[in-house]
Amino acid sequence: MTAQWDALRARLEETEGRSILSLFETPDRAAQFSAQTGDMLFDYSKTNIDDATRAALIGLVEAAGVAEKREAMFSGAPINDTEGRAVLHTALRNLDGGPVLVDGFDVMPDVLATLDRMRIYANHVRDSEITDVVNIGIGGSDLGPAMAVEALSPYHDGPRCHFVSNVDGAHIADTLRGLDARTTLVIVASKTFTTIETMTNARTAKAWMQDQGGNPSAQFAALSTSEEKTRDFGIPAERVFGFEDWVGGRYSVWGPIGLSLMIAIGPKGFDAFLRGGQDMDRHFRAAAWAENLPVMLALVGLWHAQVCGHASRAVLPYDQRLAKLPDYLQQLEMESNGKGVQMDGKPVAVPSGPVVWGAAGTNGQHAFYQLIHQGTRVVPCEFMIAAEGHEADLVHHHQLLIANCLAQSEALMRGRSLNEAREKMRAAGFTGEELERQAHHRVFTGNRPSTTLVYPQLDPFTLGQIVALYEHRVFVEGVVLGINSYDQWGVELGKELATSLQPVVEGSADPQGKDGSTAQLVTFIRRHQS
Ligand code: F6P
Repeated sequence: MTAQWDALRARLEETEGRSILSLFETPDRAAQFSAQTGDMLFDYSKTNIDDATRAALIGLVEAAGVAEKREAMFSGAPINDTEGRAVLHTALRNLDGGPVLVDGFDVMPDVLATLDRMRIYANHVRDSEITDVVNIGIGGSDLGPAMAVEALSPYHDGPRCHFVSNVDGAHIADTLRGLDARTTLVIVASKTFTTIETMTNARTAKAWMQDQGGNPSAQFAALSTSEEKTRDFGIPAERVFGFEDWVGGRYSVWGPIGLSLMIAIGPKGFDAFLRGGQDMDRHFRAAAWAENLPVMLALVGLWHAQVCGHASRAVLPYDQRLAKLPDYLQQLEMESNGKGVQMDGKPVAVPSGPVVWGAAGTNGQHAFYQLIHQGTRVVPCEFMIAAEGHEADLVHHHQLLIANCLAQSEALMRGRSLNEAREKMRAAGFTGEELERQAHHRVFTGNRPSTTLVYPQLDPFTLGQIVALYEHRVFVEGVVLGINSYDQWGVELGKELATSLQPVVEGSADPQGKDGSTAQLVTFIRRHQS
């Protein structure tokens, strides 16, 4: 891959500082540097990528063997090499596809049977006295369903859904306060059924239900790969929805972990969500590189992070209901590709990452866009916008939202020169030195790259497309970087140390052997505990 990275560095040297706006002198620039699937458009023309750079980026995809590795993933090969597992979240949405073999065994009958059980159970809950569902999980067992339930609130016709993740007692206390234990269903979502936060919250919820007149043996369900542990917790098998270890936590919203979403929007809505994901799978497998949305999203990301060296990227959905998407993508992208070594254990050849962050527009405009426009670090931005909202009587709000979204990407590209700023200040009545001083504060360097994803409306199908789009983007970036996107060893050390610190914090063990800072912090905290 050295030759491909070198070619890209040469492209950067040749084009760095070039005006992105000037690229639009080529007629058709926008269409040439966009990709489309169905009614979804990905416009990456407001970047410094030209034909030669795109060809060099596609060189990365080819040299890394993305096509073969993509098929290896879809066909159940153990591509999660450090854990010896297949990576088959795509099987969960393979609604009418063919068999998918893992070790020669077709997993589809079990996947479809579990989906049927979920449908029956979701309908049963929706038709019952249950008024509230509390999903207890963390990471991939929380972020996906929490994001999707909020995203699809216009389709929500089931019981209210709540999400508890943090081990901070404030989270569960605030959530349970005001709920009726007799009409609440608690879903314990944990792939391993060992995660300390989830199990602590689950035990607290069970005690609450017992105390408040509910019936935990009838009002708890579990989503997990461990039959034994769910049984030990006291959840009967008919309310346990299992999945296999080839579904990674951050890729699990498509199966049992999505049960709260299915209860919220109904099995038909959930099917549409799966179909959206499946539609993106088909596009990803069939479309030519330059027309392939996940591939181009990944390549634009690699260009900005690994070649241009921009250390973070902002995800900016102009869609209030996607407010949790940046958090969801943070886990998806950073837990997947935030690694320091390649598959063979050798250090990665280029920096991994980047940091993914963001917030819903227009809120972010009044918070951190100042830095995005005038700060000294370039933050490539990924805008998202629906052509239509759901509020038929508030169309003017949506038009304003669209105008803001498009204006931001235009402003980032166009900027404002010193002369234009002077002109503005002159018109405002400034003169002389004060005009000059004020003008400098109003300069926007511009030439800041962004992409825009446009979709017709945020319905279940479209959300499925968006989530699968980002999953495959992570896959492509991971393959090009040569890393395993499907393990997460980086979360282990903190967990181990927390376990060893717990008795120290509780006072049953000494902080001896801890570093001076940790020992001081424990002692200080203990002194301030009543
Ligand atoms: O701590 C990381 C992690 O393992 C994530 O990958 C996962 O989504 C989360 O914890 C929750 O794990 P589980 O579903 O097993 O409780």
